[in-house]
Amino acid sequence: MVRLRGGDDSALRHVDNVYYDGPHYDQRYATYTHDIGFWREAARSNGGPVLELAAGTGRLSLPIAEHGIDVVGVDVAPSMIDQAVRKRGPSRATPTFLVGDMRRFELGRRFGLVMIACSSVCHLLSDEDALSCFTSAARHMRPDGTFAIDVAAPRHETARADARWKSRFSYDHPATGHLVTVRGRRTYSPASRLLTDEMEYTFTEDGRTEHATRVSRMYSADDLAALLGRAGLRVERTFGDFDGGPLTADSTTQILMCSLGGPGRTP
Ligand SMILES: C[S@@+](CC[C@H](N)C(=O)[O-])C[C@H]1O[C@@H](n2cnc3c(N)ncnc32)[C@H](O)[C@@H]1O
Repeated sequence: MVRLRGGDDSALRHVDNVYYDGPHYDQRYATYTHDIGFWREAARSNGGPVLELAAGTGRLSLPIAEHGIDVVGVDVAPSMIDQAVRKRGPSRATPTFLVGDMRRFELGRRFGLVMIACSSVCHLLSDEDALSCFTSAARHMRPDGTFAIDVAAPRHETARADARWKSRFSYDHPATGHLVTVRGRRTYSPASRLLTDEMEYTFTEDGRTEHATRVSRMYSADDLAALLGRAGLRVERTFGDFDGGPLTADSTTQILMCSLGGPGRTP
């Protein structure tokens, strides 16, 4: 496994739990496919190569590479990258998967598309982290390249933060096939804009439980546009869904496509 230098262990601390275990993640997200076509088209129209930050198990990097595009996927969780490499297999040259921290990285090359998908930008837990990540991303873009983000709208996410334990999701255990059920509760702090998901996994084959916590920072399109501008990026286009619909106050998804070139219009 190849590790990039530059980050630190503080990001790993947040993903060192069963939610970010590669095989478990893939079982849980097996039916989450509605965004793949959008990202494949974004990669095709920008001409590659593609850098996916927080690439996870390659859910998006792998189908993009299947279209003959050179892809590099970076993720801080070794278990996610292990799973991505397993799925790619030994015979394929791309994607290249690397363990690294998206907040600070240096690959020594430039890309046609740098992307952070599936609300992974929410792992940037402060303005400082976001700025550092966006500045690193900008440094890795071709002059005509695109930096793109999709992230859930805060209003949609925080509406369910009522601190009550509820059944959340279930899936078949990747090794045993037995059902894994997950309940959780969600809390939100408006001051820090941090949303905390506490989850309790029950492994039905033996009743064992395991706990996982996911901390996400909420970003509106305006928050992101301001930070992107400070990192030398300009928001060129926005969408409110993966079919290219407009971004409105009711959109549940926010998609921002940026170019190099400093503060632009706000979305
Ligand atoms: C919701 S998953 C998305 C994975 C993948 N992009 C997808 O669409 O399925 C978020 C990913 O962000 C990764 N992550 C969190 N903090 C990170 C950091 N500082 N640098 C790189 N990856 C990070 C996690 O390990 C996890 O794989």
